[in-house]
Amino acid sequence: MKNLVAMITGGAKGIGRACAETFLESGHSVSLISRTASELKQTEKELLAKYPGKVFSFCGDISSAPTVKDWFKKTIETLGYPTTLVNNAGIFVNKSVVDQNLEDWEKVIRVNLTGAFLCAQELFRMALSHTGPKSIINMSSLAGIRGTEKFPGLSSYVASKFALVGLTESLAVEGRKFGIRVNCIAPGAVGTEMLKKALPELKAEATPKDIAKLVYFLSAPEQSSVLTGSTLEVFSNAT
Ligand SMILES: NC(=O)c1ccc[n+]([C@@H]2O[C@H](COP(=O)([O-])OP(=O)(O)OC[C@H]3O[C@@H](n4cnc5c(N)ncnc54)[C@H](OP(=O)(O)O)[C@@H]3O)[C@@H](O)[C@H]2O)c1
Repeated sequence: MKNLVAMITGGAKGIGRACAETFLESGHSVSLISRTASELKQTEKELLAKYPGKVFSFCGDISSAPTVKDWFKKTIETLGYPTTLVNNAGIFVNKSVVDQNLEDWEKVIRVNLTGAFLCAQELFRMALSHTGPKSIINMSSLAGIRGTEKFPGLSSYVASKFALVGLTESLAVEGRKFGIRVNCIAPGAVGTEMLKKALPELKAEATPKDIAKLVYFLSAPEQSSVLTGSTLEVFSNAT
């Protein structure tokens, strides 16, 4: 079987971890990055127990270009060339426009948008010499879709998630000649730590596994080869 490798940002918990499990179940190897070493190592240990030799983890911040380069280099050395990149890591700062300082604003944009761009850029650069079908899935949010309900305090988050939809369309155009499909998912409320902290009053309408299955669908050429530049808006029935 072909060596399939999925690189997942924010893979230590929440939706990212569910993606890691889903890709492992499908026979992929997975490479995970996040900043909290203890959490990441624990996840790696648990996944390796079930999938020996199939998991690599790298502690770092995706908003740093040298870190992203290093993550790709070590992943290739350890598992082989990536076939899928899941730009899942994201943060929020909950502050009104009046109270927000430039650092707050830039922190969110650097992780949610610049981090996704840096990872995509590495995959594109790698594809210059390493050909073959590849896929990128960006994690936006219903907060990043025109006309959905917006919540106060989340201006930088909302702006970053709108931008990911645009980045997806732009990368999809440039990705065609490299055989890279680029799609996006915009989930509503998903039961994770982020939801509890950001909007505790919201009831989760989807599980991390529900979203991971959609990520896998968008990554798999046998299931979605016709899709690139799309954003899948996940409206579910309120439970
Ligand atoms: N949960 C929802 O309701 C919901 C809805 C729509 C969209 N989303 C989006 O889905 C994605 C995952 O959300 P989640 O709910 O699973 O969040 P989560 O439980 O907070 O997990 C986020 C993961 O991203 C990692 N991360 C954050 N900043 C990072 C950075 N700079 N570099 C590397 N890793 C970083 C975190 O680890 P460290 O902090 O240790 O780095 C963590 O592993 C996010 O993009 C979020 O905006 C979530």
